[in-house]
Amino acid sequence: MLRLYYWIILILLLIAVFFIGKGMIFIFQIFKGQGVPNVTSNQDIIQALKKEIVLDSDSVFFDLWAGNGTIVSMVQSLYPESRCIGIEAAPIAFKLAERKKKNSWWSYELLKQDLFATDLSQATHLYSYLMPHLMKKVWEKISTECKPWTLFYVNAFEIHDLKAIKEIELERKGKFVKKLWVYEV
Ligand SMILES: C[S@@+](CC[C@H](N)C(=O)[O-])C[C@H]1O[C@@H](n2cnc3c(N)ncnc32)[C@H](O)[C@@H]1O
Repeated sequence: MLRLYYWIILILLLIAVFFIGKGMIFIFQIFKGQGVPNVTSNQDIIQALKKEIVLDSDSVFFDLWAGNGTIVSMVQSLYPESRCIGIEAAPIAFKLAERKKKNSWWSYELLKQDLFATDLSQATHLYSYLMPHLMKKVWEKISTECKPWTLFYVNAFEIHDLKAIKEIELERKGKFVKKLWVYEV
């Protein structure tokens, strides 16, 4: 009977260590990712983006903050002739993105660097899923560096005081409305 208690305590301890470890990784990512945790875009956004985005062989797509690489990988698989690039600064998220790329049949570019130190002048299409307080700063960079007609697809947090050329509503729960916004330089 006593041994059973030991086993139960041991299992509970292991579960606690697992969750504390996960929490620590999450906090580490937040600091390394400039306050932006590595959360992957969910399926409704992915499906909406698939419908919206159209690339050709001259297109250059950037996922500005690529996380585990889900979006850049998905876009490259749809448009193998285009150039697709994921930028990710946080080491753990970057490792996950590299692993995803290694396990894919198709290839794309991953840059382990800060978005704000990256030249975006070649971009024709950009995607981002980041924090509201950074949207203005990102738009300032895009609008000064990118060519006219460059399209910027934004998940979750709109750019205030800027008119989107398209807003796709994905979910409405009371006051909360989830959208994919499309902005044009
Ligand atoms: C919310 S996740 C988005 C992941 C992916 N784009 C998606 O939609 O599935 C944001 C990611 O941005 C990364 N990040 C935050 N600041 C960054 C910066 N200045 N440069 C590059 N990546 C950054 C974080 O590490 C995090 O993994």
